Amino acid sequence: MAGGGLYNRHSSLQNANLQSALPLLGAAAQIVANEGPAVVTIADYGASQGRNSMTPIGRAIDLVRSTNPDRPVQVVHTDLPSNDFASLFTLLDSDPTSYLKGRSGIFPSAIGRSYFDIILPPGSVDLGWSSNALHWMSGSPVDVDDHGWAIFSQEAGACAAVDALLADDWLRFLTARSAELRPGGRLICQFMGRGPVHHGFEWMAGHFWQSIVALREEGWLTAEETRQMTAPSAGRSLEQLAAPFDKGRVPDLNLEHLTLFESPDPYWDEFQSSGDAERLGTQWANMMRAANGPNFVAAVNASRDHNAILNALVKTLSARIAADPQRSHSWNVLVSISKRF
Ligand SMILES: C[S@@+](CC[C@H](N)C(=O)[O-])C[C@H]1O[C@@H](n2cnc3c(N)ncnc32)[C@H](O)[C@@H]1O
Repeated sequence: MAGGGLYNRHSSLQNANLQSALPLLGAAAQIVANEGPAVVTIADYGASQGRNSMTPIGRAIDLVRSTNPDRPVQVVHTDLPSNDFASLFTLLDSDPTSYLKGRSGIFPSAIGRSYFDIILPPGSVDLGWSSNALHWMSGSPVDVDDHGWAIFSQEAGACAAVDALLADDWLRFLTARSAELRPGGRLICQFMGRGPVHHGFEWMAGHFWQSIVALREEGWLTAEETRQMTAPSAGRSLEQLAAPFDKGRVPDLNLEHLTLFESPDPYWDEFQSSGDAERLGTQWANMMRAANGPNFVAAVNASRDHNAILNALVKTLSARIAADPQRSHSWNVLVSISKRF
Protein backbone atom coordinates (compact mmCIF):
# COMPACT_ATOMS: atom_id res chain seq x y z
CA MET A 1 0.00 0.00 0.00
CA ALA A 2 1.14 3.57 -0.58
CA GLY A 3 2.98 5.03 2.44
CA GLY A 4 2.65 8.37 4.20
CA GLY A 5 -0.83 7.40 5.43
CA LEU A 6 -2.20 7.51 1.84
CA TYR A 7 -3.98 4.18 2.20
CA ASN A 8 -5.61 5.40 5.42
CA ARG A 9 -7.03 8.37 3.49
CA HIS A 10 -8.32 6.38 0.51
CA SER A 11 -9.70 3.11 1.84
CA SER A 12 -13.40 3.80 2.45
CA LEU A 13 -14.23 1.15 -0.16
CA GLN A 14 -12.34 -1.45 1.85
CA ASN A 15 -14.07 -0.20 5.00
CA ALA A 16 -17.43 -0.81 3.31
CA ASN A 17 -16.28 -4.33 2.32
CA LEU A 18 -15.42 -5.40 5.84
CA GLN A 19 -18.75 -4.37 7.40
CA SER A 20 -20.37 -7.70 6.49
CA ALA A 21 -17.70 -9.55 8.46
CA LEU A 22 -18.38 -7.74 11.74
CA PRO A 23 -21.20 -10.06 12.93
CA LEU A 24 -18.88 -13.07 12.46
CA LEU A 25 -16.10 -11.27 14.33
CA GLY A 26 -18.55 -10.39 17.12
CA ALA A 27 -19.72 -13.98 17.46
CA ALA A 28 -16.13 -15.26 17.51
CA ALA A 29 -15.12 -12.67 20.14
CA GLN A 30 -18.06 -13.70 22.33
CA ILE A 31 -16.93 -17.34 22.17
CA VAL A 32 -13.42 -16.27 23.21
CA ALA A 33 -14.94 -14.26 26.08
CA ASN A 34 -16.91 -17.27 27.31
CA GLU A 35 -13.84 -19.51 27.22
CA GLY A 36 -12.19 -16.94 29.45
CA PRO A 37 -8.44 -16.92 28.81
CA ALA A 38 -6.63 -14.75 31.39
CA VAL A 39 -5.04 -12.58 28.67
CA VAL A 40 -6.53 -12.40 25.18
CA THR A 41 -4.36 -12.11 22.07
CA ILE A 42 -5.98 -10.67 18.94
CA ALA A 43 -3.98 -10.84 15.68
CA ASP A 44 -4.82 -8.46 12.81
CA TYR A 45 -3.36 -10.01 9.65
CA GLY A 46 -2.60 -7.47 6.87
CA ALA A 47 -3.37 -4.34 8.92
CA SER A 48 -1.78 -1.78 6.58
CA GLN A 49 -1.85 1.69 8.23
CA GLY A 50 -4.62 0.66 10.60
CA ARG A 51 -7.53 2.96 9.79
CA ASN A 52 -9.88 0.11 8.93
CA SER A 53 -8.80 -1.96 11.94
CA MET A 54 -9.91 0.54 14.58
CA THR A 55 -13.64 -0.23 14.67
CA PRO A 56 -13.42 -4.03 14.25
CA ILE A 57 -10.68 -4.41 16.83
CA GLY A 58 -12.39 -2.01 19.24
CA ARG A 59 -15.61 -4.05 19.06
CA ALA A 60 -13.69 -7.30 19.45
CA ILE A 61 -11.93 -5.94 22.56
CA ASP A 62 -15.24 -4.96 24.18
CA LEU A 63 -16.74 -8.37 23.45
CA VAL A 64 -13.79 -10.45 24.69
CA ARG A 65 -14.03 -8.41 27.89
CA SER A 66 -17.78 -8.88 28.28
CA THR A 67 -17.21 -11.65 30.84
CA ASN A 68 -14.30 -9.88 32.54
CA PRO A 69 -13.93 -6.10 32.00
CA ASP A 70 -10.38 -6.14 33.41
CA ARG A 71 -9.04 -8.81 31.05
CA PRO A 72 -5.81 -7.56 29.44
CA VAL A 73 -5.88 -7.69 25.66
CA GLN A 74 -2.88 -7.62 23.39
CA VAL A 75 -3.44 -6.70 19.76
CA VAL A 76 -0.79 -7.70 17.23
CA HIS A 77 -1.03 -5.91 13.89
CA THR A 78 0.85 -7.75 11.16
CA ASP A 79 1.87 -6.70 7.67
CA LEU A 80 4.79 -6.93 5.25
CA PRO A 81 8.18 -5.47 6.27
CA SER A 82 7.67 -2.57 3.82
CA ASN A 83 4.41 -1.49 5.50
CA ASP A 84 3.96 2.07 6.81
CA PHE A 85 3.79 1.04 10.49
CA ALA A 86 4.57 4.62 11.59
CA SER A 87 1.16 5.77 10.32
CA LEU A 88 -0.47 2.88 12.20
CA PHE A 89 1.13 3.76 15.53
CA THR A 90 0.47 7.48 15.03
CA LEU A 91 -3.20 6.71 14.44
CA LEU A 92 -3.32 4.48 17.52
CA ASP A 93 -1.68 7.18 19.59
CA SER A 94 -3.61 10.27 18.55
CA ASP A 95 -6.59 9.60 16.28
CA PRO A 96 -10.09 9.95 17.81
CA THR A 97 -11.03 6.60 16.21
CA SER A 98 -8.19 4.73 17.94
CA TYR A 99 -9.38 1.70 19.90
CA LEU A 100 -7.06 2.84 22.70
CA LYS A 101 -9.25 5.90 23.33
CA GLY A 102 -11.36 5.36 26.43
CA ARG A 103 -9.98 1.87 27.09
CA SER A 104 -7.14 0.75 29.33
CA GLY A 105 -5.25 -2.51 29.60
CA ILE A 106 -4.81 -2.81 25.82
CA PHE A 107 -1.34 -3.65 24.48
CA PRO A 108 -0.84 -3.06 20.75
CA SER A 109 2.26 -4.20 18.88
CA ALA A 110 3.21 -5.03 15.30
CA ILE A 111 5.01 -7.68 13.27
CA GLY A 112 6.53 -6.84 9.89
CA ARG A 113 6.63 -10.31 8.38
CA SER A 114 4.58 -12.16 5.79
CA TYR A 115 1.62 -14.07 7.15
CA PHE A 116 2.34 -16.91 4.76
CA ASP A 117 4.79 -18.05 7.46
CA ILE A 118 4.32 -18.72 11.17
CA ILE A 119 4.91 -15.31 12.76
CA LEU A 120 3.47 -15.76 16.27
CA PRO A 121 4.24 -18.41 18.90
CA PRO A 122 2.42 -21.74 18.59
CA GLY A 123 -1.01 -21.74 20.26
CA SER A 124 -0.83 -18.06 21.21
CA VAL A 125 -3.66 -16.45 19.20
CA ASP A 126 -7.20 -16.41 20.60
CA LEU A 127 -8.83 -14.37 17.87
CA GLY A 128 -7.55 -13.67 14.34
CA TRP A 129 -8.90 -11.03 11.96
CA SER A 130 -7.99 -10.23 8.38
CA SER A 131 -9.83 -7.76 6.15
CA ASN A 132 -9.22 -6.90 2.49
CA ALA A 133 -5.84 -8.62 2.37
CA LEU A 134 -5.90 -12.28 1.35
CA HIS A 135 -6.46 -11.71 -2.37
CA TRP A 136 -2.83 -10.49 -2.45
CA MET A 137 -0.56 -13.34 -3.47
CA SER A 138 2.93 -14.01 -2.16
CA GLY A 139 4.30 -12.79 -5.49
CA SER A 140 3.38 -12.37 -9.13
CA PRO A 141 3.17 -15.87 -10.64
CA VAL A 142 3.49 -14.65 -14.23
CA ASP A 143 3.96 -11.39 -16.19
CA VAL A 144 1.58 -10.87 -19.09
CA ASP A 145 1.48 -8.38 -21.96
CA ASP A 146 -2.24 -7.94 -22.26
CA HIS A 147 -3.43 -6.94 -18.75
CA GLY A 148 -2.37 -5.62 -15.35
CA TRP A 149 -3.97 -8.64 -13.64
CA ALA A 150 -2.90 -12.05 -14.95
CA ILE A 151 -6.27 -13.53 -14.00
CA PHE A 152 -7.82 -11.43 -16.82
CA SER A 153 -5.11 -12.30 -19.37
CA GLN A 154 -5.83 -14.27 -22.53
CA GLU A 155 -2.24 -15.60 -22.60
CA ALA A 156 -1.90 -19.38 -22.41
CA GLY A 157 -1.22 -20.66 -18.92
CA ALA A 158 -1.66 -17.29 -17.19
CA CYS A 159 -4.86 -18.13 -15.28
CA ALA A 160 -3.56 -21.59 -14.37
CA ALA A 161 -0.39 -20.02 -12.94
CA VAL A 162 -2.49 -17.63 -10.84
CA ASP A 163 -4.74 -20.43 -9.58
CA ALA A 164 -1.75 -22.58 -8.64
CA LEU A 165 -0.22 -19.79 -6.54
CA LEU A 166 -3.58 -18.86 -4.98
CA ALA A 167 -3.98 -22.47 -3.86
CA ASP A 168 -0.44 -22.70 -2.53
CA ASP A 169 -0.73 -19.38 -0.65
CA TRP A 170 -4.10 -20.25 0.91
CA LEU A 171 -2.70 -23.54 2.20
CA ARG A 172 0.38 -21.76 3.56
CA PHE A 173 -1.78 -19.14 5.30
CA LEU A 174 -4.03 -21.78 6.86
CA THR A 175 -1.12 -23.97 7.93
CA ALA A 176 0.55 -21.04 9.66
CA ARG A 177 -2.68 -20.02 11.42
CA SER A 178 -3.27 -23.62 12.43
CA ALA A 179 0.01 -23.43 14.33
CA GLU A 180 -0.62 -20.00 15.85
CA LEU A 181 -4.23 -20.38 17.01
CA ARG A 182 -4.77 -21.83 20.44
CA PRO A 183 -7.15 -24.81 20.53
CA GLY A 184 -10.66 -23.30 20.37
CA GLY A 185 -9.31 -20.07 18.87
CA ARG A 186 -11.15 -18.36 16.00
CA LEU A 187 -10.13 -16.65 12.78
CA ILE A 188 -12.36 -14.38 10.68
CA CYS A 189 -11.28 -13.31 7.18
CA GLN A 190 -12.89 -11.06 4.57
CA PHE A 191 -11.28 -10.53 1.17
CA MET A 192 -11.92 -10.41 -2.57
CA GLY A 193 -13.58 -13.50 -3.96
CA ARG A 194 -14.42 -14.75 -7.43
CA GLY A 195 -17.95 -14.89 -8.83
CA PRO A 196 -19.63 -18.04 -10.10
CA VAL A 197 -19.73 -16.80 -13.73
CA HIS A 198 -17.36 -13.83 -14.00
CA HIS A 199 -14.38 -13.16 -11.78
CA GLY A 200 -15.59 -9.64 -10.89
CA PHE A 201 -13.73 -6.28 -10.84
CA GLU A 202 -13.40 -6.39 -14.65
CA TRP A 203 -14.59 -2.79 -15.20
CA MET A 204 -12.07 -1.14 -12.86
CA ALA A 205 -9.17 -3.49 -13.65
CA GLY A 206 -9.79 -2.88 -17.37
CA HIS A 207 -9.73 0.90 -17.01
CA PHE A 208 -6.61 0.70 -14.84
CA TRP A 209 -4.84 -1.39 -17.44
CA GLN A 210 -5.94 0.87 -20.31
CA SER A 211 -4.59 3.84 -18.36
CA ILE A 212 -1.21 2.12 -18.14
CA VAL A 213 -1.31 1.42 -21.88
CA ALA A 214 -2.09 5.11 -22.48
CA LEU A 215 0.91 6.11 -20.34
CA ARG A 216 3.13 3.77 -22.34
CA GLU A 217 1.87 5.31 -25.57
CA GLU A 218 2.62 8.78 -24.19
CA GLY A 219 6.20 7.69 -23.43
CA TRP A 220 5.90 7.50 -19.62
CA LEU A 221 6.63 3.76 -19.57
CA THR A 222 8.64 1.30 -21.64
CA ALA A 223 7.17 -1.90 -23.08
CA GLU A 224 9.24 -4.01 -20.67
CA GLU A 225 8.11 -1.96 -17.64
CA THR A 226 4.51 -2.28 -18.76
CA ARG A 227 4.86 -6.05 -19.07
CA GLN A 228 6.15 -6.27 -15.51
CA MET A 229 3.17 -4.29 -14.21
CA THR A 230 1.20 -7.33 -13.21
CA ALA A 231 -0.59 -7.05 -9.88
CA PRO A 232 -0.13 -10.05 -7.56
CA SER A 233 -3.81 -10.23 -6.68
CA ALA A 234 -6.86 -12.27 -7.68
CA GLY A 235 -10.08 -13.54 -6.14
CA ARG A 236 -10.68 -17.12 -5.06
CA SER A 237 -13.85 -19.13 -5.64
CA LEU A 238 -15.72 -20.87 -2.83
CA GLU A 239 -14.45 -24.21 -4.15
CA GLN A 240 -10.84 -23.02 -4.06
CA LEU A 241 -11.29 -21.79 -0.50
CA ALA A 242 -12.93 -25.00 0.72
CA ALA A 243 -10.42 -27.31 -0.99
CA PRO A 244 -7.80 -27.57 1.82
CA PHE A 245 -10.56 -28.44 4.31
CA ASP A 246 -12.27 -30.91 1.95
CA LYS A 247 -8.96 -32.62 1.21
CA GLY A 248 -7.92 -32.88 4.86
CA ARG A 249 -4.86 -30.66 4.38
CA VAL A 250 -5.53 -28.61 7.56
CA PRO A 251 -6.77 -31.29 9.96
CA ASP A 252 -6.64 -29.04 13.05
CA LEU A 253 -8.96 -26.41 11.52
CA ASN A 254 -12.75 -26.40 11.13
CA LEU A 255 -14.35 -24.33 8.39
CA GLU A 256 -17.28 -22.82 10.31
CA HIS A 257 -18.56 -20.39 7.69
CA LEU A 258 -17.85 -19.65 4.02
CA THR A 259 -19.94 -17.26 1.93
CA LEU A 260 -19.60 -15.17 -1.21
CA PHE A 261 -21.48 -11.89 -1.68
CA GLU A 262 -21.44 -9.01 -4.12
CA SER A 263 -19.22 -6.21 -2.87
CA PRO A 264 -20.72 -2.88 -1.92
CA ASP A 265 -19.78 0.14 -4.01
CA PRO A 266 -19.96 3.22 -1.77
CA TYR A 267 -18.54 5.44 -4.54
CA TRP A 268 -21.42 4.47 -6.82
CA ASP A 269 -23.95 5.01 -4.03
CA GLU A 270 -22.62 8.52 -3.53
CA PHE A 271 -22.66 9.17 -7.28
CA GLN A 272 -26.32 8.13 -7.39
CA SER A 273 -27.21 11.15 -5.28
CA SER A 274 -24.51 13.60 -6.37
CA GLY A 275 -24.31 12.82 -10.10
CA ASP A 276 -20.70 14.02 -9.83
CA ALA A 277 -18.81 11.83 -12.32
CA GLU A 278 -15.55 13.68 -11.77
CA ARG A 279 -15.66 12.89 -8.06
CA LEU A 280 -16.45 9.25 -8.85
CA GLY A 281 -13.34 9.16 -11.07
CA THR A 282 -11.14 10.80 -8.44
CA GLN A 283 -12.33 8.47 -5.67
CA TRP A 284 -11.61 5.34 -7.68
CA ALA A 285 -8.30 6.59 -9.00
CA ASN A 286 -7.04 7.64 -5.55
CA MET A 287 -8.09 4.34 -4.01
CA MET A 288 -6.41 2.37 -6.82
CA ARG A 289 -3.24 4.42 -6.41
CA ALA A 290 -3.20 3.89 -2.64
CA ALA A 291 -3.77 0.13 -2.94
CA ASN A 292 -1.90 -0.72 -6.16
CA GLY A 293 0.41 2.20 -6.98
CA PRO A 294 3.59 1.03 -5.20
CA ASN A 295 3.30 -2.41 -6.70
CA PHE A 296 2.94 -1.08 -10.25
CA VAL A 297 5.75 1.48 -10.09
CA ALA A 298 8.09 -1.14 -8.59
CA ALA A 299 8.53 -2.23 -12.20
CA VAL A 300 9.79 1.23 -13.19
CA ASN A 301 13.50 2.06 -13.15
CA ALA A 302 14.38 3.70 -9.79
CA SER A 303 16.01 6.67 -11.54
CA ARG A 304 12.64 7.86 -12.82
CA ASP A 305 10.11 10.01 -10.97
CA HIS A 306 7.64 7.44 -9.60
CA ASN A 307 5.44 10.12 -8.11
CA ALA A 308 5.04 11.89 -11.45
CA ILE A 309 4.14 8.59 -13.12
CA LEU A 310 1.51 7.84 -10.46
CA ASN A 311 0.10 11.37 -10.76
CA ALA A 312 -0.25 10.86 -14.51
CA LEU A 313 -1.87 7.48 -13.93
CA VAL A 314 -4.39 8.95 -11.47
CA LYS A 315 -5.25 11.73 -13.93
CA THR A 316 -5.80 9.31 -16.82
CA LEU A 317 -7.75 6.81 -14.74
CA SER A 318 -9.97 9.52 -13.18
CA ALA A 319 -10.86 10.83 -16.62
CA ARG A 320 -11.66 7.35 -17.94
CA ILE A 321 -13.96 6.60 -14.99
CA ALA A 322 -15.67 9.99 -15.21
CA ALA A 323 -16.40 9.24 -18.88
CA ASP A 324 -17.74 5.75 -18.12
CA PRO A 325 -19.47 5.87 -14.72
CA GLN A 326 -20.67 2.43 -13.65
CA ARG A 327 -21.37 0.43 -10.54
CA SER A 328 -18.38 -1.80 -9.92
CA HIS A 329 -19.29 -5.50 -9.79
CA SER A 330 -16.94 -7.55 -7.68
CA TRP A 331 -17.15 -10.20 -4.98
CA ASN A 332 -16.21 -10.60 -1.36
CA VAL A 333 -15.79 -13.77 0.67
CA LEU A 334 -16.30 -14.28 4.38
CA VAL A 335 -14.50 -17.10 6.12
CA SER A 336 -14.78 -18.19 9.74
CA ILE A 337 -12.41 -20.85 11.05
CA SER A 338 -11.94 -22.48 14.43
CA LYS A 339 -9.06 -24.55 15.73
CA ARG A 340 -10.02 -27.95 17.11
CA PHE A 341 -9.44 -28.75 20.78
C1 LIG B 1 -5.83 -3.54 1.08
S1 LIG B 1 -4.81 -3.61 2.49
C2 LIG B 1 -5.99 -3.98 3.74
C3 LIG B 1 -5.73 -3.21 4.98
C4 LIG B 1 -6.81 -3.32 6.04
N1 LIG B 1 -6.81 -4.62 6.67
C5 LIG B 1 -8.18 -2.97 5.50
O1 LIG B 1 -9.12 -3.74 5.67
O2 LIG B 1 -8.32 -1.90 4.88
C6 LIG B 1 -3.99 -5.17 2.32
C7 LIG B 1 -2.81 -5.29 3.24
O3 LIG B 1 -2.35 -6.65 3.25
C8 LIG B 1 -0.96 -6.62 3.32
N2 LIG B 1 -0.40 -7.88 2.85
C9 LIG B 1 -0.39 -8.38 1.60
N3 LIG B 1 0.28 -9.54 1.58
C10 LIG B 1 0.69 -9.77 2.85
C11 LIG B 1 1.44 -10.82 3.47
N4 LIG B 1 1.90 -11.85 2.75
N5 LIG B 1 1.70 -10.74 4.78
C12 LIG B 1 1.23 -9.69 5.52
N6 LIG B 1 0.51 -8.68 4.99
C13 LIG B 1 0.25 -8.73 3.67
C14 LIG B 1 -0.58 -5.46 2.41
O4 LIG B 1 0.74 -5.04 2.63
C15 LIG B 1 -1.63 -4.44 2.79
O5 LIG B 1 -1.20 -3.60 3.80
